[in-house]
Amino acid sequence: MHRRTFLTSLAGLVVAGPAAAQMKHDMGGMSGHGNHAMPMAGTNPILPQGQPLRALPRLSNQSAVPGIFKAELVAEPGFVRFAEGLDTPVLLYNRTNPVIEAREGDKIEISFKNGIPGEPTTIHWHGMPVPADQDGNPNDPVASGSERTYTFDLPEGSAASYWFHPHPHGLTAEQVYRGLAGIFIVKPKDDPIPQEYGDTVLMFTDLRINADGTMPESTMPDLMNGRVGDHVLVNGQKNPAMPVALGEKRRLRLYNATNARFLRLTFENASMIVVGTDGGLIEAPVAVDELLLTPAERVEVIVSFDKPGAARLMTLDYERGWMGPGKPNEAGMILLTANVSEAAATAIPPLPARLRSIEPLGNPVVTRRFVLTESMGGMDHGSMPMQGMDHSKMSMSSGGMAMKFLINGASFDMNRIDEVSKVGEVELWDVVNDADMDHPFHVHGTQFQIVEHEKDGKITTPPYRAWKDTVNIVAGETVRILLRQDMPGPRMYHCHILEHEQLGMMGTIDVRA
Ligand code: C2O
Ligand code: CU
Ligand code: CU
Repeated sequence: MHRRTFLTSLAGLVVAGPAAAQMKHDMGGMSGHGNHAMPMAGTNPILPQGQPLRALPRLSNQSAVPGIFKAELVAEPGFVRFAEGLDTPVLLYNRTNPVIEAREGDKIEISFKNGIPGEPTTIHWHGMPVPADQDGNPNDPVASGSERTYTFDLPEGSAASYWFHPHPHGLTAEQVYRGLAGIFIVKPKDDPIPQEYGDTVLMFTDLRINADGTMPESTMPDLMNGRVGDHVLVNGQKNPAMPVALGEKRRLRLYNATNARFLRLTFENASMIVVGTDGGLIEAPVAVDELLLTPAERVEVIVSFDKPGAARLMTLDYERGWMGPGKPNEAGMILLTANVSEAAATAIPPLPARLRSIEPLGNPVVTRRFVLTESMGGMDHGSMPMQGMDHSKMSMSSGGMAMKFLINGASFDMNRIDEVSKVGEVELWDVVNDADMDHPFHVHGTQFQIVEHEKDGKITTPPYRAWKDTVNIVAGETVRILLRQDMPGPRMYHCHILEHEQLGMMGTIDVRA
C-alpha cells in the first residue's frame, strides 16, 4: 500500500463528509442492529471526573470444591450512565463486566449464554493457554439465544493478567466497543509481590458517545485507523481518583482493552517499576519513566508514591501513522489521579529483587514470515462520491470500495488454513510491517518471547525477557518472536486493532499433534 494512494483516496471521503460520517459499516453481510441513532450535532456530553476509583466487581465462584472455578456469564444489552442524565445502550457480561479471578491449577467451567439479540458471539480467552476448541474462535460461534460451556485447566506457571472478549466473525470490533470485555486474572500459588501493595486493575476502554448518549456508528476513518473514542476511561470512569498514603507502593495491572488506542503512559510525581507483561511476571523489576501500551497489551507495574499531592497517570504523544482526518490528540489526557496524603504510610515492605525465572524458548526448528500490508482496493480515484453508495461495498469481499488489511497478501478466511505447524516445536516468526501504520500483532493460544526488532537495518533487543501475546510492530519494522504451541488445533494471529482484524488482517495456523 502506498501512502499517497491511501490519502488521495481519502480526500474523496472528506468531500463527502456527512455521508461518510453516517455510513454504516456492513461486514460479512450481518446488518446487526440497524436502528442506532445517527451521529447528531450538539455538544459532546461531559463526563464527571474525580470520582473515587471503583474496583471492578468479581465473578463469584459457584463451586465449593477446591480447585474448581465454576460460573455463568451472559452477554446481553444493558445501559451505562457515563454522563449525567444519559443512559448509553451497551453490551455487557453479567451487567457489570466482572473480573474473573482464579488460581494456577484451577479447572475452569464457564457456562455462557449469548443474550445479544440477532448476533452470534464467542468468548475468546485472550492470551490464555486454552484448548483451541474452547477458545472462542470465529468459526465456533454461539448463536443468539443459545448457550455453551467453556472448559479449560490453568496449568502451573500460567499466572498472569489475561482478559476475555468476543471474537465472532465480522462483529468483534463492534461488540468490543459497545462494551463486551472482561478481565481474567490468574493468581500464582506463591506471589512474590508483597500483599501490602494491593492488586488494582486499571482497565482502559475508549468511549465515543453522541449528545443523546448513544454510540455513533463507525466511520471510514474509524475503519482505517481503528475506532478511537473521545474519552479514555479507567474501569468505566473518566479520570477517577485514588487515595494513597505517602510512601505507599501499589501494584497496578494496566489493561489496554480499547479497540485501537495507543497509550504512551507516564506517572507524574510517582515512579513506575515494571514487574509483569502480558504473560505474567518478568524475572526482575525494571524501573521506567514511561511505557507504551498498545491495544490488547497488559503491563503490571509497582508505583511508588513518594511525593505528597496529586500524582497523575498521563498520556504522552505517540505517532502511530494515523491516516486521514480526525487524528486524535494523544498527549495530555489524565487517566487517573492518585491523591497522595501528607501522612506517611508505615511498614511498606520492599519489592524483591527477583520475581521468577523465564526459560529462553531455545532454538527454533521452523521459521515463518508474516508480512502485514494495507490496500484500498478500487479506491484509487480521489473523487469517488460516497453519496448513495451501497453499504455492502464496504465489505472486504466486494470490489469497489474494498479496504483491506492483509497478511502475506491474503485477507482472513475462516475456512482457509494459512499455516500448519506441530505441537511442541519452537518456531521463529518474522513479522514484517510493510504498511504505513503501526499494527499490534497478537497470537492465540500461547505466549511468545521477543527476540529482536529491526528497523532501517538497525537491530535492537528487548531490555528484559518476558512473556507476551501481543507486540506492536511499528510501520516499517520487523519483529522476530519465538513461540511454541503446546495444544493442537486452529489458532488465529492478527492485528489487535479490531477494525483491522475485521477487515482481514488475520490468519489461521493449524497446530497438529
Ligand atoms: Cu484479543 Cu484474537 O484476540
Ligand atoms: Cu487472543
Ligand atoms: Cu492493524
